[in-house]
Amino acid sequence: MEYQELMNRAIEASKNSYSPYSKFAVGACLLTEKGNVYSGCNFENSSFGLTICAERNAVGSAVAAGDKKIKAIAIYSPNAQYCYPCGACRQVLNEFKSENGLDVITTGDEGLKISSLDELLPEGFIL
Ligand code: THU
Repeated sequence: MEYQELMNRAIEASKNSYSPYSKFAVGACLLTEKGNVYSGCNFENSSFGLTICAERNAVGSAVAAGDKKIKAIAIYSPNAQYCYPCGACRQVLNEFKSENGLDVITTGDEGLKISSLDELLPEGFIL
């Protein structure tokens, strides 16, 4: 799948964000080695620490479907340019990156930007 199409799906997912506290919506859509896509949005809680990020929501859906090798993830927020994954989500993505790595796709006024997860999380922890 084209990265622009993956981003379009992340944009769609951001519309389902449940973010009444931060008012910061995020959508993500990931692509696995099998060629499947899984979307997620952030969802918050009145007990703030229970918030789940869009990226981890999408990873959870992929893992639940038995699809555990992620090639790429597109992330979008209508509230920010170039919305990159938080540190916790970088570590979670690191667990499920494909043999050939994982591309992180963001967007803004200058179009798509593609980074490798290894560049965003150097020396990520692996047991
Ligand atoms: N958020 C994400 O969904 N992904 C990130 O990588 C950064 C932060 C969400 C969590 C919270 O609902 C809101 O954005 C503000 O932190």
